[in-house]
Amino acid sequence: MILVTGGTGLVGSHLLYSLTKENDTIKAIYRSEEKLEKVKNVFSFYTDDFLALFNKIQWIKADITDVPSLYNVFDVSITHVYHCAAIVSFDRKDYYKMRKTNIEGTANIVNFCIEYNIKKLCHVSSIATLGDAIGGKMVSEENEWNDQEANHGYAITKYGAEMEVWRASQENVDMVIVNPGVILGAGFFNEGSGKMFTQVYNGFKFYTEGVTGFVGVGDVVKTMISLMKSDTKNERFVLVSENKSFKDILCLIADAFNKKQPSIKIGGFITAVFWRLAWLLSKITGKEPLLTKNSAKSAHQKEFYTSEKIEKQLHFDFEKMDTVIKGICNDYSLS
Ligand SMILES: NC(=O)c1ccc[n+]([C@@H]2O[C@H](COP(=O)([O-])OP(=O)(O)OC[C@H]3O[C@@H](n4cnc5c(N)ncnc54)[C@H](OP(=O)(O)O)[C@@H]3O)[C@@H](O)[C@H]2O)c1
Repeated sequence: MILVTGGTGLVGSHLLYSLTKENDTIKAIYRSEEKLEKVKNVFSFYTDDFLALFNKIQWIKADITDVPSLYNVFDVSITHVYHCAAIVSFDRKDYYKMRKTNIEGTANIVNFCIEYNIKKLCHVSSIATLGDAIGGKMVSEENEWNDQEANHGYAITKYGAEMEVWRASQENVDMVIVNPGVILGAGFFNEGSGKMFTQVYNGFKFYTEGVTGFVGVGDVVKTMISLMKSDTKNERFVLVSENKSFKDILCLIADAFNKKQPSIKIGGFITAVFWRLAWLLSKITGKEPLLTKNSAKSAHQKEFYTSEKIEKQLHFDFEKMDTVIKGICNDYSLS
């Protein structure tokens, strides 16, 4: 039996859809009923008969930071675990929450995998755990974590999570780690990377020229499933289709929606002022800031990644981002 954590999130819900097409015995954990509706919504982008697939999943209420709840999840029937649950945030106030969920939560999952002799664990990490490019080369799996003060909380906690997963490999649990770039996919249009689609649809005019790696959620899911089926073990893989500027991505979204491309460039000074105002506003309103110091910084950074390793090992071709984005915009219009 397959177990999926984080099944109510962007990656997990698309993964569950693919898994339910091929498997009848899948368990997934959830924390609130409301999120299950979001999973159904994602399934509905793929097929009219989405309830039949959704109903194949045995949903168990559990939290990865709550060990007793995980005893209701794990049993001897589980052979493969996809660990997608994490908190993704660039807000400093979430740092200790991220340590608890991303590091301690992953340690809990690893401990259960060891206790129940799980055959293989697939962990979703991030390009945030990779070190800087050396000598003008692109960043790959070989770029080890660089322990420097400039690392943001999300990166630190995702690195801590990876360390826990490497521990599993030392305890007879085969594992693979994927390190995706910014993941774009349909269904979560008011959070994370999905917000970009809503903003552009509503006429967002601004752009920055920072560059990073992007990948479609469909390719993240395909590579995770292929790696789990393969003999590959105890390795990590960068998942990036293309390195693009935020401007390029926003323009591709605007084109796909038939909207005006964003035309006002935001420089480093303006974002520096804006994240401080957003911070102040969030203190007054208690709401999440629209921009944080870390997200402002990454909007201007230029980082280039290569996925050559997985392309060669799985003979895999990533879908180009213009095709990924056209598909997502189409789903957006239907939602
Ligand atoms: N999105 C990206 O661009 C991106 C890029 C690179 C790597 N990643 C990694 O990909 C993975 C999935 O990210 P995503 O984009 O799918 O995130 P997401 O949409 O925010 O989903 C996160 C999932 O984790 C679950 N979760 C959080 N805390 C939990 C806890 N304490 N116990 C149980 N479940 C918990 C959430 O459950 P609820 O629904 O109940 O909140 C949700 O199902 C993460 O490991 C993330 O670090 C994401």
